[in-house]
Amino acid sequence: MDIAGKVFVVTGGGNGIARELVLQLLAKGATVAAVDLNADGLKETAKLAGKGAKLSTHTLNITDRAKVMALPKAVITKHGQVDALVNVAGIIQPFVRVNDLEFDAIERVINVNLYGTINTVKAFLPELLKRPEGYIANVSSMGGYAPVPGQTIYGATKAAVKLLTEGLHSELMDTNVHVTAIYPGAIETNIAQNSGMAMPADMDVHEGNKFKMTSVNVAASTIIGAIEKNSYKVFIGSDAKTMDKLTRLMPEKAAALIYKQMKALLG
Ligand SMILES: NC(=O)c1ccc[n+]([C@@H]2O[C@H](COP(=O)([O-])OP(=O)(O)OC[C@H]3O[C@@H](n4cnc5c(N)ncnc54)[C@H](O)[C@@H]3O)[C@@H](O)[C@H]2O)c1
Repeated sequence: MDIAGKVFVVTGGGNGIARELVLQLLAKGATVAAVDLNADGLKETAKLAGKGAKLSTHTLNITDRAKVMALPKAVITKHGQVDALVNVAGIIQPFVRVNDLEFDAIERVINVNLYGTINTVKAFLPELLKRPEGYIANVSSMGGYAPVPGQTIYGATKAAVKLLTEGLHSELMDTNVHVTAIYPGAIETNIAQNSGMAMPADMDVHEGNKFKMTSVNVAASTIIGAIEKNSYKVFIGSDAKTMDKLTRLMPEKAAALIYKQMKALLG
């Protein structure tokens, strides 16, 4: 899809990968409706975009189905049309084994990552089907195909987003709507803090990380490149690409390797 002149809805636009994506889409000539539950984060994104940017901000929780269903009307009233939906908003879970994870934490991560994505797809797909060309891009994760102990429910939600996206791609094959699944590896953001994880310093995924992380800048430009090419899927970072190969060719060895890396964090 050519980005210039299109209207994009980007969830999670108040921080991290999605904020950078919003800024890069604007720079490419798109109009953007940025969605986030964090009003201050959206304010900062608008500030970075600068005065006169073709940007609207929408403060809402993507788990609030009624509010999400009302969003297309708000975006179309503001911008006249909507061409693309990029689902980036997401959270991780507390870094503990399933055995130690409370049901409310389990439900929270499933609601945001899976139902949040389903809600926006259900809200916007009817509108995207009306356009000459429409787009849905959903952010899954390397954790959606590689088992990360301590992030098992998170991984299950991201595996669900993977199949949701692949299923949508198949269902929409004979339509004007393109669908891309996005698989980031480790990206330099504050996702742990933003997900409300009170982690001791030695458990911080960034502080203690042994992997090289990809910048939000590269993450956003990789997503844009995939959208411009109508790609079926895209990996962000060499870790995501390597793990994809490893989990397909030697799944058990891959699981053991990841466990070895994560064991210290789990205690
Ligand atoms: N950072 C990584 O290493 C990494 C790796 C793989 C996948 N991902 C995925 O990439 C996406 C973006 O992650 P990030 O690292 O940029 O995180 P981030 O925390 O920097 O940004 C996520 C944004 O989503 C918003 N958000 C969270 N829950 C929401 C809700 N219920 N409704 C509306 N907005 C909500 C947050 O307020 C935040 O602004 C997530 O889906 C994450 O799972 C991240």
